[in-house]
Amino acid sequence: MTDGLKLNIVPFVSVDSMMKIVMGIGVERFLVDLAAYVEEDFRRWESFDKTPRIPSHSDDGVIELMPTSDGVLYGFKYVNGHPKNTRTGRQTVTAFGVLADMASGYPVLFTEMTILTALRTAATSAVAARHLAPRNARTMAIIGNGAQSEFQALAFKALLGVNRLRLYDIDPVATEKCARNLAGRGFEIIKAKSVEEAVEGAEIITTVTADKRNATILSDNLVGEGVHINAVGGDCPGKTELHRDILLRSKIFVEYPPQTRIEGEIQQLEPDHAVTELWQVMTGQVAGRESERQVTLFDSVGFAIEDFSALRFLRDQLEAFPFYEEIDLLADPDEPRDLFGMLLRSQK
Ligand SMILES: NC(=O)c1ccc[n+]([C@@H]2O[C@H](COP(=O)([O-])OP(=O)(O)OC[C@H]3O[C@@H](n4cnc5c(N)ncnc54)[C@H](O)[C@@H]3O)[C@@H](O)[C@H]2O)c1
Repeated sequence: MTDGLKLNIVPFVSVDSMMKIVMGIGVERFLVDLAAYVEEDFRRWESFDKTPRIPSHSDDGVIELMPTSDGVLYGFKYVNGHPKNTRTGRQTVTAFGVLADMASGYPVLFTEMTILTALRTAATSAVAARHLAPRNARTMAIIGNGAQSEFQALAFKALLGVNRLRLYDIDPVATEKCARNLAGRGFEIIKAKSVEEAVEGAEIITTVTADKRNATILSDNLVGEGVHINAVGGDCPGKTELHRDILLRSKIFVEYPPQTRIEGEIQQLEPDHAVTELWQVMTGQVAGRESERQVTLFDSVGFAIEDFSALRFLRDQLEAFPFYEEIDLLADPDEPRDLFGMLLRSQK
């Protein structure tokens, strides 16, 4: 212990606490405020350490570590992606993460990130769309109505004013669930029977399906002029959602090219195919959408800086919403070098 500080203690936000915090703030308010942190960190992109995330693949899915630092704080997320998990009652995506102080190397926050990932992914999609989607877009198709889908819908409502949803999933039970969860939240909802029906009249198309293969969720003929595509589900080698021809006629925006070229829709293209980095659009260095007729594509894979923003945002909420446990995470001997002595004294 030093100066009465409990150096061994790290605040831990459990799933139960996260739900209290999110519902205490309100989902849409949370998304809007989190989006501001995401945008703030994209605007200072150059001040971060960046590396493609570190994956371990198996036939069934992937486990990934996602680290970054801005020199003051360090964050990492552990996340998995296992599309078959829902068949055994498990989530496709689960996560937890840590925020740490660069000066001492000590963690300052340990948290569940399954819910937080859904919120940060949706906030990032909406931040991107604010720069790329057609002006005054109100109608969004959502293909894939699983765990992420409601979060996506609410982020687009809160940040862009989307109020008409056209839902489609190969499993109608998922569509029913999504429509039920979003009922009474200010959307007009169409439950479509096909992708073709879902994309009819949609100015924004979100693809957020889970399947560990090169799928064709959207074919080229279904994408009209001027549409913004928010492609969220293709995020691993050999796991994509869009037909290659769509990519060839879209202006493509990415988070971090070295990671997206491995994991995103653009793995289908030549390694030097031109893409635009989202942070440069946000800082005004390069143009986003250039015309009303242009097809824009956010090839989202999820990057560590978004999780860093989410961790930073969460930490800043804990004073007003003190839902966390104090966990004894770090060994703290009276004399720092007497770790073994602490172990011996524990027996007395
Ligand atoms: N880009 C990111 O930052 C990011 C973040 C989180 C999740 N993801 C990805 O988003 C995807 C969805 O995640 P989730 O947690 O909602 O998964 P989920 O398993 O809860 O839901 C996926 C849904 O997709 C549906 N689906 C599968 N194939 C389909 C098809 N051909 N057409 C229509 N629907 C289809 C399934 O029936 C299911 O309802 C996953 O692939 C995940 O890896 C990406």
